[in-house]
Amino acid sequence: MEAQKMRETELLFIPFPAVAHLIPVVESAKLLIKRDHRLSITVLIMKLPMDTGVANYTQSLQRDATDRMKFVELPQDDSIFKLVCESPAAFLSAFITSQIAHVRDVVADIVTRSDSTRLAGIVIDMLNTAMIDVANEFGVPTYVFYISSAAFLGLTFYLQSLSDDHGQDITEYKDTEANLSVPCFLNPVPAKFLPSVVLDKEGGASTILSIARRLRETKGIILNTLLELETHAVMTLTDGKNPPVYSVGPVLNITGGEGATDNQNSDNPVITWLDDQPPSSVVFLCFGSLGSFDADQVKEIARALERSGHRFLWSLRRPPPPEKRALAGEYENPEEVLPEGFLERTEGIGKVVGWAPQAAVLSHSAVGGFVSHCGWNSILESLWYGVPMATWPMFGDQQVLAFEMVKELELAVEIKMDFRKDFLTTNSAVIAVTAEEIECGIRCLMDGGSEIRKKVKEMKEKTRKALVEGGSSYAAVGRLIEDIMNNSPE
Ligand SMILES: *[C@@H]1O[C@H](CO)[C@@H](O)[C@H](O)[C@H]1NC(C)=O
Ligand SMILES: *[C@@H]1O[C@H](CO)[C@@H](O)[C@H](O)[C@H]1NC(C)=O
Ligand SMILES: *[C@@H]1O[C@H](CO)[C@@H](O)[C@H](O)[C@H]1NC(C)=O
Repeated sequence: MEAQKMRETELLFIPFPAVAHLIPVVESAKLLIKRDHRLSITVLIMKLPMDTGVANYTQSLQRDATDRMKFVELPQDDSIFKLVCESPAAFLSAFITSQIAHVRDVVADIVTRSDSTRLAGIVIDMLNTAMIDVANEFGVPTYVFYISSAAFLGLTFYLQSLSDDHGQDITEYKDTEANLSVPCFLNPVPAKFLPSVVLDKEGGASTILSIARRLRETKGIILNTLLELETHAVMTLTDGKNPPVYSVGPVLNITGGEGATDNQNSDNPVITWLDDQPPSSVVFLCFGSLGSFDADQVKEIARALERSGHRFLWSLRRPPPPEKRALAGEYENPEEVLPEGFLERTEGIGKVVGWAPQAAVLSHSAVGGFVSHCGWNSILESLWYGVPMATWPMFGDQQVLAFEMVKELELAVEIKMDFRKDFLTTNSAVIAVTAEEIECGIRCLMDGGSEIRKKVKEMKEKTRKALVEGGSSYAAVGRLIEDIMNNSPE
């Protein structure tokens, strides 16, 4: 039999260059490659003209490159940098627009190699919907990798339908006590939890609505969730009014499992400190790469920790200088913001650190609770490791996600659900959270909460089962690949 050269099936992934977006998208690409040897994937790495903390990560990616998985960096365009401060929405749009020509070049290049490869699809981040036009020019189907929860996607579709099918102006929900009956949620959703961008009359709302419209044009939406976690929301999304959804999660950067994470960090002082603590005794506080507080709020947290009496590991980050609009940084000396004598009084019980290796900490048996900003990736990590959470959302989708975890799924306790921090302005706290509220949340998380602890442990088992053969997410990856093959242009 004559060996016939099979044409490779190529996918192009276009993540958005922020850590919370990039990592799950790249990990999902690795997942597909591992699953089906017919696939090869090119991941386009765009560069924002400011530091978003991804440079080290993207450099490390080149080490992961194989014959079947390539990373291509697109040229950077600094000329739009001035827009960052003038208008974040305009900046985002100008940034994506500046990348379109580069993306078109890459697509054209793959398509001209069509005797050896066929471009079966483009997988975009939801912020990159402008790339759908490039895909359409070449007659290539588009898929989305969605980095928030299924319920949040359902909420976005609901708001878009209110606007487009019922003529409602969704920004009128701003500062109201209204409750929304969102099909993806079993409980009414208080409008005050909606992301501020959704309620923004100056273009924010219209941007969100247009993203929702464009998501509906795609051939499929890849969800970083599992059916067992968001059963109601995922079922609601499969009502035929949206593109097919594939719940393939949790997609996390935990390739080596717990053992590997521990080994990599065995000489990390945070981990060696945890090694000396009793099982499930430590509450871990960590607020993400943008999570920092002003000095007054830091002192409230410190007072709450002291009064709760629990062991703690606190990732305390410094707010960026007002003019930089960058990521949280490190304190040279955290004592400058902590209450006087705090470090001495809590010595042996608590540890204050800067950046912390979150996954390694959560996987450690000494950690019994997690106070989190409720980014979706952090929620998935805490469930994966079976660590119950107390919610302290900051901005964006995090209030809705906190509501989902506390009220809908009953998998977290509440410190605060409606805290809102505008990370683009300098006044960091609009509503401060008091030491009493924080202490109460920590006590509830560490002392009480046995029902939640049990449910979280059960969910941990489900997350692990979902990913292996016979599991729901494993099956969803299979369906996704089959549909990609079937939808592929010849
Ligand atoms: C990137 O790596 C450099 C050198 O290893 C390090 O100094 C820097 O802190 C890292 N940046 C981030 C954002 O992790
Ligand atoms: C929305 O729900 C909350 C909590 O159940 C309730 O206190 C509030 O009155 C409701 N708002 C309206 C406008 O009905
Ligand atoms: C992702 O996982 C790999 C392997 O476990 C590790 O080397 C890398 O540092 C991780 N990346 C991030 C950004 O956490």
